[in-house]
Parts: sequence; C-alpha cells; structure tokens
Amino acid sequence: MENTQSSNILLCITGSIAAYKSADLARLFIKNGHNIRILMTDSACEFITPLTMQAISGNSVHRNLLDESAEQAMGHIELAKWADIILIAPCSAETISRLSSGRADDLLGAVILASKAQIYIAPAMNMNMWANIATQNNVESLRHRAMIFIGPSKGEQACGDNGYGRMSEPEEIYETIQMSENKLLNGKKIIVTAGPTREQIDPVRFISNNSSGKMGFALAEAASKSGADVTLIAGPVSLECSDQILRIDVNTAAEMYSESKKLIVDADIFIGCAAVADYSPIIQNQNKIKKSSSKDLQISLKKNIDIISSLSKEYPHKKFMGFCAETENVEEHAKIKLVEKGLDFIVANDVSKKDIGFDSDFNEISVFTKESHTHLQKASKNLLAIQLINMLSKDNQFIH
Ligand SMILES: Cc1cc2nc3c(=O)[nH]c(=O)nc-3n(C[C@H](O)[C@H](O)[C@H](O)COP(=O)(O)O)c2cc1C
Repeated sequence: MENTQSSNILLCITGSIAAYKSADLARLFIKNGHNIRILMTDSACEFITPLTMQAISGNSVHRNLLDESAEQAMGHIELAKWADIILIAPCSAETISRLSSGRADDLLGAVILASKAQIYIAPAMNMNMWANIATQNNVESLRHRAMIFIGPSKGEQACGDNGYGRMSEPEEIYETIQMSENKLLNGKKIIVTAGPTREQIDPVRFISNNSSGKMGFALAEAASKSGADVTLIAGPVSLECSDQILRIDVNTAAEMYSESKKLIVDADIFIGCAAVADYSPIIQNQNKIKKSSSKDLQISLKKNIDIISSLSKEYPHKKFMGFCAETENVEEHAKIKLVEKGLDFIVANDVSKKDIGFDSDFNEISVFTKESHTHLQKASKNLLAIQLINMLSKDNQFIH
C-alpha cells in the first residue's frame, strides 16, 4: 500500500533473535518516505549492532536514558514528542512486562510513558512464553492502553518449537501500520462470515468441512484496523478475535443466513468467507441414530440457501466480496460465480494445494472483479487479508 503522508517513526528494538528483521523493517519505512529514528535496549545491542541500525537509518541510535550528550541533542521527552508513531519490533516478553507496569528506568520505558503517539507492538518470543498467563495478562493491560499488537505469527521458531511467537514479517507490520493510520474504511459497517457450518444429523453427528476460519478472522481484524465497524459471524472454530469486533457465533447454515439477513440491512460491505455447507439433512433426528448391524444408513439432504447470492440480489447497491475454494479450473469457476452470485469481488483459492488453503496459515489467491484479475502471491493469511481490505477500500465507491 502506498504511503499517504510521511511520518516520524521511532523504531524500538528489544532483545530477541528476531532483531535481525528490524533492519529490513527500517529500510521499508525509509523506502516509503518516512523519517526514522532507532531506539535500542541493552539486550537488543547483543543481537544486532547499533552501527548497523545507524547506517540504515542515517541517524545515531538512541540507547541510554542517562546520557548527557543525548540529553543535549534529543532527550527522552524530545524523542517522545518527535515520534508520530512508535513501533516496538521485535518486542520481548520482558519489555511487554516492563511496559505493563509503567516502568521508566530505561529509555524505552520513559519514552513510552512520555509519548502521545500511537504505539504498535510486534512481539517475538518462544511460543510458551507468549502463551504464558503472565505475558497474556500484560498484553491485555497494554491493549487497554490502546497499544496495537501486530502478530505474533505462527510458525517454526528459532528454538525449534512451532507455534504462535514468531515476529510478523516486516511487510505485514508495515502494511498493518499503513492501514491502521490511513483508516480508509472509517465509518463503514462490514459483515464478515468465517469458518465452516455444522449440519446436524442427530445430536452427536454432523456434516461439516475443513474450514479453519483463519482467513475470515484475518479479514475481520484487517477491516477493524482499517477503521470499519466489523461484525464477525463465525461458524464453530477455535479462534479468538479482538474486542473491537462484534462476534456472533453460529452453528448451521440456516443460523448464519438468519444473522446475515438481519445485519445486512445496516451494512455497507458483506464479506462471505465462511465455507457454508451446501446441503443439510432433511430430517434431524432428535435422538442418536442407533447402529444397525444389517442395514446401511441413507441420509437425504436438502440444498441450503446460498447466503451471499441471496443477499446480493436483495441489496444490489451494497458491496459483496465472496470466496470460492476450488480443486480444478479455479479461474474459470471463479469468473462464473462472480456473475451468477452478483458479486463485486470474488477471491479464488486452489484448495487442492497442500501447503496453502484450508487449515494453513498461508494462502495464494486470485481476485476477480468484472474488469480485473489480480494474483496475490503466497503469503500469510494476515497479509493477504490486509491486501484484500486495501482493494475493497480503494474501490471507487468508498473514496470520498
Ligand atoms: C539467544 C537468546 C534469544 C532470546 N530471544 C528472545 C525472544 O525472541 N523473545 C524474548 O522475549 N526474549 C528473548 N530472549 C530473552 C531476552 O533477551 C531477555 O529477556 C532480555 O532481558 C530482554 O530485554 P529487553 O526487553 O530490555 O530488550 C532471548 C535471550 C537469548 C539469550
């Protein structure tokens, strides 16, 4: 996303293996016309040299709170006033803990307390450190102080573990900040559906699919960061979303339709990312079906309503983004669905590829409108979600 205005960015680096990524991050901001200054904790200097960061940023690195020469040039209060945006990347568990207690005995702590800038935090740590209740309580308290967390992402870690704790990639951090600062969807009401639906056969059995809900949740988060008022209608998934998003949990396709139909009345944009079951059992047995030793079991299915198609026909002036998961002739099927379902955008992904799609944290997608075809290279679902929300927000109707 292009930069709308240059800002003063204070990039703070703390003691994590991921500190090597801060060099790329700084370059990304500079390339896009921002002014950048670097603050490093003592531990950070063990992971990447201040000399490297000085050479990249073109400014000497701020390191000490009690430093006479720094106080003459740019002391902690000046630095706090200079920054339009403060980004801590990577942010260690230790720094998260210190900030949550409001400590001011090092330069980073003092600047954060003295600044009125928007603060972004990109955590990086071992997955168990991140999941630890102590860290999570600290994160919660910083979120209450309006600090915005970017990541951490899931994946392989330097210690060999695999889970949430990796610092998000520099491009994702950069794009999230741009999106959050530009707030192109301010005042827009967006509905996002996510996850699978469950169609009960009897009280203990159901028909469902492999959708994890990750793409839909990432879209809801991106839309919310872009200033939109987001309602997320979620099928049964084990994901969490931020407090700014209104979440409505549903089970069946019929429930998802009923909630969508109610909410669309006041909405501007509908993003149908849920993998809604196409069929549901005609009869839902009240009691568990007993196993018969002699007979096969036949279940008759009825067709479910196509939620997005039905809503787009009822509200042709609202904006609709639909998704299609295909295993063959992806482009051809997507273009047909775009027209048949009355959509403004259709996002096609090939779920036959094992390393992307349903349960993966990555995807590779093609976006079709009536006039255009854009291919988005394999990337994290978070980054793809930001790119999709950018496309939506730049669509003519929404630029004021
Ligand atoms: C090799 C090594 C890697 C480390 N990586 C991390 C990390 O990724 N995240 C983290 O929270 N702490 C990590 N630590 C521990 C921090 O460096 C330590 O808690 C330090 O006190 C953080 O200080 P700071 O937040 O002031 O920079 C690591 C320590 C070592 C020795």
